[in-house]
Amino acid sequence: MADNIGNRQSKEYYMDVPPPSDGFFVKGLGHSDWGIKNRLSRIFNPDSGNTVMLAFDHGYIMGPTSGLERLDVTIAPLIPYVDVLMGTRGAVKTCIPPSAGKAICLRATYDTSVLFDDMTAGNGMGVDIEDAIRMNVSALAVQTFIGSSGERDSLGTLCRYIDVGDRYGIPVLGVVAVGKHMERTTEFFMLATRILAEHGASIVKTYYCDDFEKVASVCPVPLVIAGGKKLPEDEALTMAYRAISEGAHGVDMGRNIFQSEAPAAMAQAIGKIVHHDFTDKEAYEYYLQHKEAPGE
Ligand code: R5P
Repeated sequence: MADNIGNRQSKEYYMDVPPPSDGFFVKGLGHSDWGIKNRLSRIFNPDSGNTVMLAFDHGYIMGPTSGLERLDVTIAPLIPYVDVLMGTRGAVKTCIPPSAGKAICLRATYDTSVLFDDMTAGNGMGVDIEDAIRMNVSALAVQTFIGSSGERDSLGTLCRYIDVGDRYGIPVLGVVAVGKHMERTTEFFMLATRILAEHGASIVKTYYCDDFEKVASVCPVPLVIAGGKKLPEDEALTMAYRAISEGAHGVDMGRNIFQSEAPAAMAQAIGKIVHHDFTDKEAYEYYLQHKEAPGE
């Protein structure tokens, strides 16, 4: 059995060697089934290879978070500016028009709320696969708690969703959650993202960290970064720019978009970095220019 005693320190990440290519444009997923590739092609833009996902699933553990009090008012207007809408079943069904034409990444697990002592205690399958199919979702999002009390439980949930997702051609996005008392080190994110990919997640959502290129290099499938707590817009754009430059294939951002002073302009500025090679400074200029009149 593999264990953590007497292991040689791993340090060759082959960052200058491109990952294997087999004709399909999404990293590491060339051997996937047709349905999975079709759905991945709705998530990742085939031209840039990247994605802008808008996360508005916070209410399933936090209730009416600032900026998400009325999803129909605040999220619906952002739909034109993102590639993927990541929300819960209840939020999507009540506030996203079925004609929106964007890929849905469905938050599939139930987890513990902010009122619970240990928010990393574990989770379970909150949505039946038949309902996910009825909703025509492009991916299932599963929270995991590596290094926390709910690790085994959440990995079990991840594996069950990967099994049923594979059966019906639906990719699973594994989410790396970070427990309150855990440090956001490069080593932790390398470990956690790799564990989710090895269990079969097609996409892994993580946080940006120091030496992010190492995290991206040893994860065989695409990484997308969460935004985390609201930052000033220029800092959030710098984080996105660094993540993309260092190997992320997109963002799955919430608060740094919908809590922005100008959410539509911010979503578009993020898109410029993710899809159009803008630097963080160029994207911030774009944000400032479009704050008052997004979409122009
Ligand atoms: C975390 O588990 C959820 O998936 C959030 O949606 C995620 O953290 C992204 O939101 P934010 O960018 O606000 O952190």
